[in-house]
Amino acid sequence: MPQPVLAAAPTKAKLTANVAQTNRQLKLQSRPKGLLAPGDLQLAEAPLPSLTDGQALARVKYLSIDPTMRVWMATDSYVPAVAIGEVMRGFGFAEVVESRHKEFKKGDKVVGLTGLQDYCIIEAADKRGSFQKIPSIPFLSDTAFLGVLGVTGITAYFGMTDIAKPQKGETLVVSAAAGATGSIAGQIGKIHGCRVVGIAGGAEKCKWLTDDLGFDAAVDYKQPDWKEKLAAATPKGADIDYENVGGEIMHAVIDRMNLHGRIVLCGLISGYTKGDPALESFGMVLVKRLRVEGFLIIDYMNRYMEAATQLGKWKMFGKLKDRETIVEGLEKAPDAINMLFTGGNIGKLIVKV
Ligand SMILES: NC(=O)c1ccc[n+]([C@@H]2O[C@H](COP(=O)([O-])OP(=O)(O)OC[C@H]3O[C@@H](n4cnc5c(N)ncnc54)[C@H](OP(=O)(O)O)[C@@H]3O)[C@@H](O)[C@H]2O)c1
Repeated sequence: MPQPVLAAAPTKAKLTANVAQTNRQLKLQSRPKGLLAPGDLQLAEAPLPSLTDGQALARVKYLSIDPTMRVWMATDSYVPAVAIGEVMRGFGFAEVVESRHKEFKKGDKVVGLTGLQDYCIIEAADKRGSFQKIPSIPFLSDTAFLGVLGVTGITAYFGMTDIAKPQKGETLVVSAAAGATGSIAGQIGKIHGCRVVGIAGGAEKCKWLTDDLGFDAAVDYKQPDWKEKLAAATPKGADIDYENVGGEIMHAVIDRMNLHGRIVLCGLISGYTKGDPALESFGMVLVKRLRVEGFLIIDYMNRYMEAATQLGKWKMFGKLKDRETIVEGLEKAPDAINMLFTGGNIGKLIVKV
């Protein structure tokens, strides 16, 4: 994954009529243990940098709040951990406010690794495609490019179409089903003719899945009898597990898997705030000859347009619905990250900067 291009500690403030002179930034002060504690991310202010040739300055409007941010804060993974004192890494939607960059002009809308801050710098030397220009499409909101057409939407798309390869009549179980990725993955299962069962925390989320999104059943894992409900909802067993959670939920789904089922290992959120990676006993994978495939969306970035075009068409024709939970204020980003682990969001979680 490309590293974020963050505004380095500037030396000279630039005065421009429409641009604030300071940049609020959330910096990593300490590596969290469990949920984020006050002070793990600290708000600091820096003057805006002067632009040099080949740079553009963009105002961050929305931040995508993703479970992987908690991993980035803690440890090296598929990318290096965020360094202590560094602006917190994160995806965002931004608008170019000044430019000396030949490919980005004032007013262009972009998505990319903006970092958790008011302003970010787009670098000419950045060959890694950190920022993508976003076209204005009338029926799509800016935030859609962080959700249904953003990382979570395209993750669901490739996880389902490339890895799960759903067949008509199969049963798909999706965990964290009322979240950004799970809600789209389940709907893609419906589009392919699957029986779709979602697992989510709480009656409101379950109702949304069945009543609005068309899932065939939803299981509230916070109820004591949820495993029986899962069995009842999968009378023919499960052929596909779109796994977002891990731990006890994943094991309950594996118990329901049919011979030669497929597990799309998208995420293991139940382990991110614990030392335990929540992947203890994978023995049934062998006994049931299951196919488990982990994947990272960064491997699919060169096929972004394929996913975005299909997701956009499904959305336009009403086959795909999306929902967002929007938290107001950059300073609320640490609380928003915690919401992912306490289930405070329905659909895509976004911070409006
Ligand atoms: N492989 C990739 O490239 C890739 C890319 C994007 C995301 N992902 C993964 O996809 C998963 C979902 O990410 P997202 O961004 O779409 O977040 P999300 O689903 O919108 O939000 C996270 C949801 O997870 C549920 N959850 C949290 N802790 C849980 C626990 N201990 N047990 C059961 N459910 C729990 C909560 O819903 P409830 O109220 O239902 O508990 C929460 O709302 C994550 O595992 C993430 O790492 C992977």
